[in-house]
Amino acid sequence: LKMRNLMVFCLPSVALFACVKSAFPPPCDSEIYCTGPILHQVQTFKLFDDDKYFVDMQMREPPDVVLSAFRNLSQSLPTPTVPPAQLRKFLSTYFNKPGGEFVSWTPPDWHEKPKFLAGIADEELRNWAENIHNLWKSLGRKIRTDVKDHPELYSHIYTPHPVIVPGGRFRELYYWRSQPPFLTLMMESYYQATKDKEFLRAALPALEQEYRFWMQNRSVAVTVNGAEYELNRYHVQVGLPRPESYSDDLELAEGLTAERKEQLWMDLKAGAESGWDFTSRWYIDGDGHNNGTLRETRTSQILPTDLNALLCLNEKTLASFHRILGNGDSAALYDQAAARRLEAIESVLWDAERGAWFDYNLVTHSKHFEFYPSNLAPVWAQCYSRPEMGEKAVQYLKGSGALEFPNGVPTSLRESGQQWDYPNAWPPLQHMLIDGLSKLPSADAKQLAFDLAQRWIKTNWVAYQKYKAMFEKYDVNGDGKPGGGGEYEVQLGFGWTNGVALQLLDQYGATLTSGSSRVSSCLLLPLVISALMLQ
Ligand SMILES: *[C@@H]1O[C@H](CO)[C@@H](O)[C@H](O)[C@H]1NC(C)=O
Ligand SMILES: *[C@@H]1O[C@H](CO)[C@@H](O)[C@H](O)[C@H]1NC(C)=O
Ligand SMILES: *[C@@H]1O[C@H](CO)[C@@H](O)[C@H](O)[C@H]1NC(C)=O
Repeated sequence: LKMRNLMVFCLPSVALFACVKSAFPPPCDSEIYCTGPILHQVQTFKLFDDDKYFVDMQMREPPDVVLSAFRNLSQSLPTPTVPPAQLRKFLSTYFNKPGGEFVSWTPPDWHEKPKFLAGIADEELRNWAENIHNLWKSLGRKIRTDVKDHPELYSHIYTPHPVIVPGGRFRELYYWRSQPPFLTLMMESYYQATKDKEFLRAALPALEQEYRFWMQNRSVAVTVNGAEYELNRYHVQVGLPRPESYSDDLELAEGLTAERKEQLWMDLKAGAESGWDFTSRWYIDGDGHNNGTLRETRTSQILPTDLNALLCLNEKTLASFHRILGNGDSAALYDQAAARRLEAIESVLWDAERGAWFDYNLVTHSKHFEFYPSNLAPVWAQCYSRPEMGEKAVQYLKGSGALEFPNGVPTSLRESGQQWDYPNAWPPLQHMLIDGLSKLPSADAKQLAFDLAQRWIKTNWVAYQKYKAMFEKYDVNGDGKPGGGGEYEVQLGFGWTNGVALQLLDQYGATLTSGSSRVSSCLLLPLVISALMLQ
C-alpha cells in the first residue's frame, strides 16, 4: 500500500476530540454525515437500532447552523458529551425522519398483464408472478427536486430519473450493493430489447468512464510463474468507520493499532464495495485461509473471480458496442483487453486440477480453494478459452457439496454468522449460476440449470405463501424461510429477488411447477389422458 496524501484530520472520541492521522482524505466532506461530533455521539450512544437511520435523516437547517447549534449545546453542558435525552431533542429540532427525499412513483410503462405471464403453465406460479409484477409499483421512487435545490441538507445524491429501490432499510437507489460494474450489461440488455443505436451512442462515454475507473483505480499487477498479469480487486482507500455502520466498525477495531484500524476500515469498505458484505471469502487468517473472523477481513488482498469475470464481459461487450457503432479501432482495443484478461484469468485464477476458478491471495500468492458460487463466474461471463473448462466446472460444482441443499445453492459452506456465507442463498448468485449453466452446450449442464431454477422458484414460492413477502435472501435449509445473520435484520421487498424470480419464470415458465397439487389444467389434461390410455 502506497501512503500518499498524508493528512491529519479530527475524529471525535467519547472523551475528547482527538486528532487521528490518516493516509487518505475522508469519504465525503460532510461534517454531519461522514465525520464530526454529531455522527460520533449519535452512533456511539446507539440512539437508533440501525446506524443507517441517522445518516439517512435530512437536515432542517443548513449544516453550519446545525454544527453551531451543536457546539453551543455542548458548551452549555458540564460534560464533554451530550446526554442521550438532550441528543434526541437536538435531533428532533434539527433533523427530519429518513425517507423524506422520495415520493412514490409508478413506472409509466408498467402494464397490467405483461406477455410473459401467459407462458407460465402452472396456475399458482402464474398468479404469484402477477403479484410479484405488481410489486414494482410499490418499489418505484422519484427524488424530490428539493434534493437538487438543497443538496447540503441531504446525505442522498440527487438523480434526475426515477428509480426502483430494493425495499426495507434500503430506501435508496442501489447499483448491486454496491459497486460491481453491471452498467454495461444493463445497457446490453436494453440495446437487445430496443436496438436503439442513438441511446447506445449517448450512453457509451459513461460506460467507458466506469471501465476506466476500474482500470485506473482498482487494478493491480501480479506475477505468476515469471509472467506479469493485470487483474482487478475491490479497494477503498478511506480508513474510517463506515458512517452507516459506525458503532459496529468502532467496536470491531477496538484494541488494534491505529494502522491496523485504518486497514480494517478500508477493507470493510472494500467488502461493501464488492456487494458481499460480509463473508468468509474476504477473511484471511494467519495461514492465509478463509478461516478467520470479521476482524480479519482483508478484501483488498484478494483478486476476486467474479469481479474479473465481470470486467472480461465488460470488455467484450464494450468491443461489441463499438463494432455496432462502426468504431473499428476502439472495438479492437477492447478485444485486446478482453484477450489479455482471459489470459490473466486462466493463468492466475483457473485451477486445472480442481476444474474451477478461485480467488487469488496477493500476499500469500496462492488460491483460496473454499467453495463460493463465484468460483463459476467465468462460466456465466463465458470468459474461458477451451470448451472443456466449462464442463469441468460443472463437475467441480457437482463434487463441491453445494448442490446438496433443498432450497438453493449456499453462498459458501462455511457458517461464519455473516450473511454472505452458509446457510444463506442470494438471488443474484443463483441467477448467475443458472444462467451460466444454461449457456453450456451439454444437456447435463442445461438440466442442472433447470433443476436449480426449480429449486429456487419453489423456495421463493413456499416462503411467499407463508409470509406474503419476497425476501432479500433465503435459507438453503428448512421449509421456505428467509436467511439471516450479518449486520441487520432480513429485509422485505425485494428488488433483486423479484427480478430473478420473474426472469426464471419467463425463461422456464413452461416447465416450472410450484410443487403443489393444483397444476394448470392445460398441463394436467394430457397427463390424465395418457394415464387413462395406459390403463
Ligand atoms: C450559537 O451561539 C452563538 C453565540 O452565542 C450564536 O451567535 C449562534 O447563533 C448560536 N447558534 C445557533 C444555531 O443557535
Ligand atoms: C481515480 O481516483 C481518483 C482519486 O479518487 C479520481 O480523481 C479519478 O477520477 C479516478 N479515475 C477515474 C477514471 O475515475
Ligand atoms: C479454523 O480455525 C479454528 C479456530 O482457530 C480451528 O479450530 C479450525 O480447525 C480451523 N479450521 C480449518 C478448516 O482450518
